[in-house]
Amino acid sequence: MNLQIMNVTKEFKDKKAVDKVNLTLAPGVWGLLGANGAGKTTLMRMITDIMSPSSGVIKYNGKDIKKLGKLYREILGFLPQEFGCSSDFSVVDYLEYVAAYKGIEKKVARKKIAELLDILTLSDVKKKKIVKLSGGMRRRVGIAQAMLNNPEILILDEPTAGLDPGERIRFRNFISEFSQDRIVLISTHIVSDIEYISTQNAIMKGGKIVDVGTTEELVKQIEGKVWSALIPAKEVAVFERKLRIINQKNEPNGMVSIRYLSSNSEVDNSVNEEPRLEDLYLWLFPEAAYEREVK
Ligand SMILES: Nc1ncnc2c1ncn2[C@@H]1O[C@H](COP(=O)(O)OP(=O)(O)O)[C@@H](O)[C@H]1O
Ligand SMILES: [Mg+2]
Repeated sequence: MNLQIMNVTKEFKDKKAVDKVNLTLAPGVWGLLGANGAGKTTLMRMITDIMSPSSGVIKYNGKDIKKLGKLYREILGFLPQEFGCSSDFSVVDYLEYVAAYKGIEKKVARKKIAELLDILTLSDVKKKKIVKLSGGMRRRVGIAQAMLNNPEILILDEPTAGLDPGERIRFRNFISEFSQDRIVLISTHIVSDIEYISTQNAIMKGGKIVDVGTTEELVKQIEGKVWSALIPAKEVAVFERKLRIINQKNEPNGMVSIRYLSSNSEVDNSVNEEPRLEDLYLWLFPEAAYEREVK
């Protein structure tokens, strides 16, 4: 099974949101990483056939998805970024409604819904109206509706937005299990959410895929550029101005341990650290460090 994105471009009036993207997705969990505005949502909307490319084609097992139509939609699950579902339905009524709409047999749907409510820890609120749920719960209802038809291809646009730390961990475990023999594509700008579950990552910037690979492969380019060092707390501000600090932690005796990115060691006692995907992301998107801080 594969999904080929071939030379896909999407132009809006004065904006090239997706620019000649070539990417072949094989079964596994794919992280689609990029800052806000990179083009992730636009690319996903084309992959799900909600939007047509300005040029280029997308093929599922060698066949143009435009020609597959309904057959393609049957094997597809999608959580849109803006999934809010402000309906007056209860959780279970809503999922039954979506299942009916997707043409899933009632008995099969009931069983599947119970299973998903359980995995996504929504059983306790299944009778509650969706409008009354918290953001994280609503997001999980969105994930459930995307998975009702046991999709071979599951596209999740920012699925972890609004989830609390516990919900994030459960989400990761559940996606890892689900992804056997399926293509799962997850967009995020929160690297840690996919770092440990993605089999491959595609990094998007300015409408282009700038890098593709496993986490191990990708972080190779910043090997030797991630450092940790101990500095006096009163000098943090000075170092902050000249170093790209990823992390800092207070230590005893008025010292602070920092993790920073630099081609060369910039502090005497620096030690090289094992690079992580988040380090690479901040290396490629320096502005993201600021975004993360203000969150
Ligand atoms: N319908 C649209 N009309 C015009 N510009 C759009 C439209 N949708 C997205 N864009 C622009 O395309 C770029 C990529 O947006 P988007 O795909 O939402 O990125 P991301 O999901 O990575 O944040 C942004 O500059 C955005 O403003
Ligand atoms: Mg988006």
